[in-house]
Amino acid sequence: TKDDLNTETLPGDAGGVARAAELLRAGALVSFPTETVYGLGADATNDHAVARIFAAKGRPRFNPLIVHVPTLEAVRDIAVLEGAAQDLAQAFWPGPLTLVLPLKPGGPLSALVSAGLPTVAVRVPAHPLGHALLEAAGVPVAAPSANPSGRISPSTAQHVMDGLSGRIEAVLDGGPCEVGLESTIVGFEPAPVLLRPGGLPVEAIESALGGPIAARQTSAGITAPGQLSSHYAPEAELRLNAETTRPGERLLGFGHVDADLNLSPSGDLVEAAANLFRYLHQLDAEGDSPIAVSPIPDHGMGRAINDRLRRAAAPRD
Ligand code: TXA
Ligand code: MG
Repeated sequence: TKDDLNTETLPGDAGGVARAAELLRAGALVSFPTETVYGLGADATNDHAVARIFAAKGRPRFNPLIVHVPTLEAVRDIAVLEGAAQDLAQAFWPGPLTLVLPLKPGGPLSALVSAGLPTVAVRVPAHPLGHALLEAAGVPVAAPSANPSGRISPSTAQHVMDGLSGRIEAVLDGGPCEVGLESTIVGFEPAPVLLRPGGLPVEAIESALGGPIAARQTSAGITAPGQLSSHYAPEAELRLNAETTRPGERLLGFGHVDADLNLSPSGDLVEAAANLFRYLHQLDAEGDSPIAVSPIPDHGMGRAINDRLRRAAAPRD
């Protein structure tokens, strides 16, 4: 990719939303805030615009994208929503949940969005500014996280600029993302399966379904083996479940420990999730000495935090 665009930072107000919507409709790449992380948006019905997402991120074409829409009616224009999927949609949308649904036959999406699969991942985000943008754009918006492929997801507009400045037309600045981790992804085979733990705790999904949900490795079947294992990587080496630090290590703490940065001194998993990517970005910017990470309880938002930490610590390709 040539990094030769003059990327605009648009203010998070009505004028910024109007400009961002106009750019999207014209086929441009616009990063926008959701409550989880910033997305890298393009008109999901425009082949050329969708192709540019893959180029800007350096993302393999076989890894499909999430489509964002403002309402349940707009979901039905692109996908089939029924049964357990409809129950989850009614319980949790708008919110940090993505559902993998059958494509609507003859629907308007570019085939590149779903990488040739018969399904499409769909999300109705809750962020007021993201929602306003989707309403104003009037087209479904394909958006992966707005980071170069394999890097940490962005939870601020500055992170987006750090990774993609020069490769996209604009970023709509909505401040830091409240959840801070990507959405939870659920597929249907046809029974519901957890494809990625995320911003909506699994316990909430299980209580809505009235029973346990099976988990499958993050959409591993549809991507190259190993490709996703080293996802979310900071430059520095990461050592997990560290009760104490070794010489030369920095500590990313959790709970009552004396740390370089503490995800949540009080041991609050929601706060820890919101801080995780921001602190990894910060530690990355500050140096390259190894990072030890305190143990994180594996329930609620802790499931998603541990999933991201394991990927960040996995051997690099
Ligand atoms: O919170 C989020 O989900 C953010 C915001 C921007 O919405 N988006 C995000 O997108 O995390 P991305 O592209 O970084 O992750 C999407 C995941 C990928 O692992 C992809 O393989 C999976 O969703 N996916 C997309 N379409 C799929 C499909 N049809 N079947 C199975 N998995 C799919
Ligand atoms: Mg991503």
